[in-house]
Amino acid sequence: MVISDGPGNQQEGESIQSRIAELAPWFQNIHLPDGSQTSPDTYLGDFPSYKWLEFSNSIPVNLDGWTALEIGCNAGFYSIELAKRGAQVTGIDINPHYLTQAEWASRQFNLENHVTLKQMQVYDLAHIDDKFDIVLFMGVFYHLRYPLLAMDIVAQKVQRNLIFQTAMLPGEDIVNNIYDLGLYQRDTLCASGWPKMAFVEHMFSGDPTNWWIPNRAGVEAILRSSGMRIIERAGVETYLCEPDPDRPSCVSTWNSCELFAATGQRV
Ligand SMILES: C[S@@+](CC[C@H](N)C(=O)[O-])C[C@H]1O[C@@H](n2cnc3c(N)ncnc32)[C@H](O)[C@@H]1O
Repeated sequence: MVISDGPGNQQEGESIQSRIAELAPWFQNIHLPDGSQTSPDTYLGDFPSYKWLEFSNSIPVNLDGWTALEIGCNAGFYSIELAKRGAQVTGIDINPHYLTQAEWASRQFNLENHVTLKQMQVYDLAHIDDKFDIVLFMGVFYHLRYPLLAMDIVAQKVQRNLIFQTAMLPGEDIVNNIYDLGLYQRDTLCASGWPKMAFVEHMFSGDPTNWWIPNRAGVEAILRSSGMRIIERAGVETYLCEPDPDRPSCVSTWNSCELFAATGQRV
């Protein structure tokens, strides 16, 4: 569904400030062309500007001719930044309130023809054929009850680059080069560097939609297992990846039936 102009959109003569107030609450602080900010007093600071500064150098400055997908686009901060660089962006989110913010914000930059917004679940991407030159999957993974399913679906949408970010457990340890374990070697699975995710039964940070927090080893193993090669850590909890033709995901080879069953796709 494309978000269309609706009754909540900017009226002629209406001030930017009053429209920002009408569209509150904002999660993202977007610096608008007139100098206004959508949420200057957020508990996260000037978010996500400081995050963008961390990884923006990992993305080409000129994205003319590139297609981009932003999953969980929220108010459109990153979609707008990619569109400023010339990309044709599709932003998806489950929350219509955020999509209304994104639609309005992209118009403030005259980028509405470069940013297409859709109310979609990440899992819905299994039912579109398109791939995108660059996919941003940031701040969403830990909100999902089915994170591996989402990762497998997302990885299949990446033509050139994936930018992935998630909340992570503390610690940098990595247990390397273990391809198999014996039935009674389970102590190794408890090592701090073994890939893991902490399950959140109730709430994390006051939010009942936070389900899984992986450790570093877990993030990197999941990215590899979904067919991605990690190019670099592009920022705090942030990875730049590309498809790894030498190590495709099992869901594109011997285990495709499981993905098709989970997504309702035909074999
Ligand atoms: C923590 S915010 C991150 C926003 C933005 N990506 C960023 O990094 O600043 C999570 C966003 O993901 C969206 N979201 C949560 N679950 C989703 C899902 N299953 N599919 C698509 N978007 C989802 C939320 O509505 C919200 O806008």
